Amino acid sequence: MAEEDVQPGAGGEITMRLWRGDETGGEFADYVMPAVEGEVVLDVIHRVQATQAPDLACRWNCKAGKCGSCSAEINGRPSLMCMTRMDTLPPGETVTVAPMRTFPILRDLVTDVSYNYEVAKRIPPFNPRAKTEDEVEAGGYRMQQIDVERSQEFRKCIECFLCQDVCHVIRDHEENKTSFAGPRFFARSAELEMHPLDVNDRRQLLQEDQGLGKCNITKCCTEVCPEHIKITDNAIIPLKERAVDAKYDPIAWLGRKILNRSKRTPAEAAATSPASGPAAVQPDVEVHGIPVPVGITAKRADAPAPDMTDTTEDAPAV
Ligand code: SF4
Ligand code: SF4
Ligand code: FES
Repeated sequence: MAEEDVQPGAGGEITMRLWRGDETGGEFADYVMPAVEGEVVLDVIHRVQATQAPDLACRWNCKAGKCGSCSAEINGRPSLMCMTRMDTLPPGETVTVAPMRTFPILRDLVTDVSYNYEVAKRIPPFNPRAKTEDEVEAGGYRMQQIDVERSQEFRKCIECFLCQDVCHVIRDHEENKTSFAGPRFFARSAELEMHPLDVNDRRQLLQEDQGLGKCNITKCCTEVCPEHIKITDNAIIPLKERAVDAKYDPIAWLGRKILNRSKRTPAEAAATSPASGPAAVQPDVEVHGIPVPVGITAKRADAPAPDMTDTTEDAPAV
């Protein structure tokens, strides 16, 4: 190794304390490595694999902060290993890297995040209203640019699940996983609920089956999001407001009655939804111990089209 590559201080060495073990147990092991300028934590992990521990397991793909694979806890903070520069960590101190605590350990730094995919299946999918005659003629839906932009923030999600990892509702309470969707999926529901073309109603599902009320807005999820999505302010709080409006606001109730925008009950939705396709109701089954309820997928093909101006665009894929 060239001498100019070695950082000064701490003898030009760094101590990496890495979790080694599997679902049956394990412990931290120390690896002393030469410090190399410009590295991120994942670089050092790869050098440990290459020189001292070829059986060390870690998950990564892009090394560019875009695939969401390399999530871990670096010095106790949920972070992407490929986006954490070594020179941002306290100089001369041991760097501790542990697997995400909220999910079961497969081996070493790799966890089983399949809980998140089961939660994803429980969210009623995008279900656009029918096109108006004007829109059919124009060849696409008409929607305002501001409505397009509102959901763009949530589409930046790389599914690293760091927000899920840090959320105290499930981090220390395994039993809550059956009744709590978590911040990543509140952001996904917000993206769909705020979409002006979508006619599914997820508010009752969020409140009664996905534990929206269990979130006490600590903002920890927002703090660790590598995409800087304002999960709490822009997704969870607006969803809470919508859920409360749906249940208790008499003016909103009256407005829905007058405008014929009342939502269908889960049973009505189940009775009228197609067997497959984007508006299909999720099956009433249990997967990995997580109940998959009959979806609240109220199909509103008859919903009146809102007054749209400005842009003519195809409905964005959701
Ligand atoms: S704001 Fe809510 S969802 Fe986010 S970490 Fe806190 S409790 Fe969990
Ligand atoms: S919302 Fe942010 S922290 Fe959560 S999974 Fe998506 S990118 Fe990761
Ligand atoms: S390796 Fe893809 S986000 Fe880190």
